[in-house]
Amino acid sequence: DLLTQIDRLEELFVVTPEKLKEITDHFVKELERGLSKEGGTIPMNPTWCMALPDGHETGTFLALDMGGTNLRVCEITLTEAAGEFDIIQSKYRLPEELKSGTADELWGYVADCLQQFIEYHHENEDLDHLPLGFTFSYPATQDYIDHGVLQRWTKGFDIDGVEGKDVVPPFEAALRERNLPIKLAALVNDTTGTMIASAYTDPTVKIGCIFGTGCNAAYMEDCGSIPKLAHMNLDPSLPLAINCEWGAFDNEHQVLPRTPYDIIVDKESPRPGQQSFEKMVAGLYLGELFRLVLLDLHQNPDCQIFEGQNISKLQKPYSLDSSFPAAIEEDPFENLSETHDLVQNKLGIAATKPELELMRRLAELIGTRAARLTACGVAAICKKKGWETCHVGADGSVFNKYPHFKVRGAQALKEILDWPADKGKGKNDPIEILPAEDGSGVGAALIAALTMKRVQQGQ
Ligand code: BG6
Ligand code: GLC
Repeated sequence: DLLTQIDRLEELFVVTPEKLKEITDHFVKELERGLSKEGGTIPMNPTWCMALPDGHETGTFLALDMGGTNLRVCEITLTEAAGEFDIIQSKYRLPEELKSGTADELWGYVADCLQQFIEYHHENEDLDHLPLGFTFSYPATQDYIDHGVLQRWTKGFDIDGVEGKDVVPPFEAALRERNLPIKLAALVNDTTGTMIASAYTDPTVKIGCIFGTGCNAAYMEDCGSIPKLAHMNLDPSLPLAINCEWGAFDNEHQVLPRTPYDIIVDKESPRPGQQSFEKMVAGLYLGELFRLVLLDLHQNPDCQIFEGQNISKLQKPYSLDSSFPAAIEEDPFENLSETHDLVQNKLGIAATKPELELMRRLAELIGTRAARLTACGVAAICKKKGWETCHVGADGSVFNKYPHFKVRGAQALKEILDWPADKGKGKNDPIEILPAEDGSGVGAALIAALTMKRVQQGQ
């Protein structure tokens, strides 16, 4: 019956404190392996962002933010006043077709958005070349800051002919074709941008995290702790931001408690075998995991939920995004009447009370597992660096919108790091994960400013 099924789901999805610790310890080793000469599964990409802002950066910059769902163009003016800035921005939808289209279509669309922005905000102005910080939120190998070879697409993108190549030349070609007065100054990951933007207003920030469509983190390393860069003879005390790309954690399946549903998500994705961690915790996948469990329970002869109902909508892959389990968790009514209506409207299914209760518990299980597993990554960076206290700047739809995500993450950090009983509530904790306002746009502008300063100083 349904209660037995809930027990089974709990067994699959609940991550105990012991397991969290085991995952964190393995995570620390994997972060280190990624920095080693031999390299590991987690890429640990050097970003050539080599300083935190001091709050006194100035100038006007464009920022282009290409995340998983939206495209944002911002113009940011860093003012003389420490930690302050003015921002104007426009948001553009990133059409679904573009994610599996051609490279020319992608760069053409991105450049068109920039052109629209410039035409709208600088009509008839004779502009000098504006420096651009481009937040390109995919794993890239960078030999310098205004260059980046795409290692692989993540977050469901599947555009031929981009992986393994520098993304900057075709992007710049699209700008040139449109005669746009823009000069790319830095290619930035959203995690690095978030970290730098947060550090601009809060000097205790040492880590930037994205809990959104994808999931990843960046932190400040020192060059002396990066064996794979030893041949460059960099000053060992110089700071260097590392984009972990921790979505790839445990692609070997050594430690994460994968369920049969995680295995299906992976198998049916455009890049099976990759981003194992991300596929268990990121927004792109939470609704899909939820759907797969329901479908399985419908087909299970022992319980057969939604018996006699038309489940054609439920059968469509990715028909539910993470806002679906999020809304179910937010249903304030004892009788789950909002959930009932949501399931009716979205899936055309009239669910019974026990089915609604099962869905509520399932949403909690999936959301809680995501928050707890991501805490392992944050704890691992802090353990590796020996940081007992720090602030983490965070952004992304899951962090900002998924109910209880922050509190669940804080509770998991407390279990992993053995904090005293009064900690782990998400406020004034030794390690605190805080929202980054205007995240990566401001970060990209700051990185562009810091880069230009470095170039001017001849470093
Ligand atoms: C945005 C940041 O707010 O959050 C982006 O500016 C980032 O750089 C994004 O990629 C991540 O969230 P989501 O949910 O859109 O993937
Ligand atoms: C994916 C990308 C990574 C990005 C993250 C969050 O994991 O590979 O670069 O930071 O999503 O957007």
